[in-house]
Amino acid sequence: MDINGWLKEQMVSAEAYDADGLIDRFLDEMEKGLNGEASSLAMIPSYVGADGQVPADTPVAVIDVGGTNLRVCIARFDGQGDIQLSGFSKQPMPGRDRELTASEFYSVLADALVPLKDEFRQIGFCFSYPAAILPDFDGRLLHWTKEIKIPELVGAPIGAGLLGVLEERGIFGKQVVILNDTVAALLAGMGQGLAFNASSYAGFILGTGTNTAYVERNENIGKLDGYLGEGAQVINVESGGFSAFKRGSLDLQLDTRSENPGGHVFEKAISGAYMGLLALELLQALASEGVFSDGGGAALSIMKDLSTIHIDNLAMDNGGDIGVLGSEAFDAADRETMKTVFMAVVDRAALLTAVNITAAVVKGGAGQDPQRPVCVNIDGSTYYKTYQLADKVQAYLGELLNARGLHIRCIQVDDAPVVGAAIAGLTTFQ
Ligand code: BGC
Repeated sequence: MDINGWLKEQMVSAEAYDADGLIDRFLDEMEKGLNGEASSLAMIPSYVGADGQVPADTPVAVIDVGGTNLRVCIARFDGQGDIQLSGFSKQPMPGRDRELTASEFYSVLADALVPLKDEFRQIGFCFSYPAAILPDFDGRLLHWTKEIKIPELVGAPIGAGLLGVLEERGIFGKQVVILNDTVAALLAGMGQGLAFNASSYAGFILGTGTNTAYVERNENIGKLDGYLGEGAQVINVESGGFSAFKRGSLDLQLDTRSENPGGHVFEKAISGAYMGLLALELLQALASEGVFSDGGGAALSIMKDLSTIHIDNLAMDNGGDIGVLGSEAFDAADRETMKTVFMAVVDRAALLTAVNITAAVVKGGAGQDPQRPVCVNIDGSTYYKTYQLADKVQAYLGELLNARGLHIRCIQVDDAPVVGAAIAGLTTFQ
């Protein structure tokens, strides 16, 4: 069987897509989202400011509620602008393995924060889920993504809930600013971007989930003072929601089996929570066509889950954990087919990622001067760790940006969500 031809029919192939057409549709959805028209892109104004003046030696609490982990610490910047962390705790993201109540979730946060209570007044809260930002810098959860199950929190202002639980525990007078992780990444990249005279900024995440923030310069959407310039605002695109692209039948099947059918379908094509599952759908379909050995086909047909990390380790052949894929049920030819399938998933994800980043750069309206590239801070383990993904993204990006005469510089900042949340916590309430 011609596996690559079959993958193309399934739309799981970069060759099945027209990148220029996709960029146009992305831009169209972005514009509609900004104008409040029906769109698959939420385009949420973040209201964060950053004037480059982050106070030194001032402690701030940071909460980082990510897709996989929840981290809490005290952060402060030293005189050189380097971040120092203390009182650090980390645990798996609650609500991923089993459904939780809102109060169980807040208890987890409060338990981690209470021991640090005398060390901070402000909390920078990086919340890696779609949240509408409110005038008091709180965030109202629009819906969950990444398979999280805490249904009571949908629609709730997350910061107010946290402050309420702290007050129940006798802790008063704290302030909290909620920001998306892409907004945090954008802020965290500004130090480096300023140093190379960046013409604008973006934050892109490809980890368990995916998303993009960029700087919009549009008089109608509110002003952000400081070095972003007049009339500028950081927009959380919620690019994982993009749906104006054609998916294959197995993409659709994966979607119907997810926690949020019909939602965040772009994320389901490119992010770490889903690439392994999508590969599994494809492998099971191939198994029913008799492509695998008898033992391999039987083993695949009863699998319920496939982690992106396991199949990625198989593709990379790096001796890392490949989980059940290491079972004797599979022969060498079976594993070769698995690699071919996964690399097609990765290649398509790379093209779609490059389309996404290009659209954000075009929409931001900067980057024409090669001396003043747009600073794109990229974060997320899926982007950096998946076999060949980053290289493929950069190759596609090169083509798409060249054709448009646009220039970017991609950077990486350690602990970007924590750095960005600390900046927001220290600068928002001044
Ligand atoms: C969420 C975004 C987040 C992204 C990356 C998505 O599932 O909707 O808010 O920025 O994941 O963590």
